[in-house]
Amino acid sequence: MLSQQPYKVLCVCLGNICRSPTAEAVLRHFCQQQQLNVHVDSAGTAAYHIGEAPDSRSQQYAKQRGYDLSNLRARQLSPQDFQDFDLILAMDEQNLKNIQRIEQQAQVQFSTQSLRAQVAMMTEHASEFQGQAIADPYYGGAAGFEQVLDQCEIASQAWVLVFKSSQKQ
Ligand code: 4NP
Repeated sequence: MLSQQPYKVLCVCLGNICRSPTAEAVLRHFCQQQQLNVHVDSAGTAAYHIGEAPDSRSQQYAKQRGYDLSNLRARQLSPQDFQDFDLILAMDEQNLKNIQRIEQQAQVQFSTQSLRAQVAMMTEHASEFQGQAIADPYYGGAAGFEQVLDQCEIASQAWVLVFKSSQKQ
């Protein structure tokens, strides 16, 4: 991990209005708390909500824990992101498949050497639910949104430990 240039992480879900903006704000918080030189962004694999603010329920439950999502706007994952980001984090297995499909487009569009993004699950290092999905809360109730926040907090703290240990090398 480079120490001068920020390490760039992109959190990705389907719509970029519930899970990935939550993951973005939570991961940014824990990186800032540890003064890590990490830039965090988010995107969706689908185009449904481009330009929209996060879902009002995601904003509401996040705000109750001190995370402000109000300035975030949805955008769609693009092949360019595989050149621009170091790490792309999928919220669930279907997101992962969609990310890999766009990665294949990037491989056609750009030289393979210019693609730097590694792809992993958001929960890759979260001990309690390692590798498991962060479930889509869109069609459910409050518990789903709270669970997204719980999972993002635990998963982000685990990533921060990984980033810190790679900065020491
Ligand atoms: P997200 O949730 O992927 O966590 O942002 C969703 C938001 C919208 C839709 C699906 C999932 N939708 O079908 O519009």
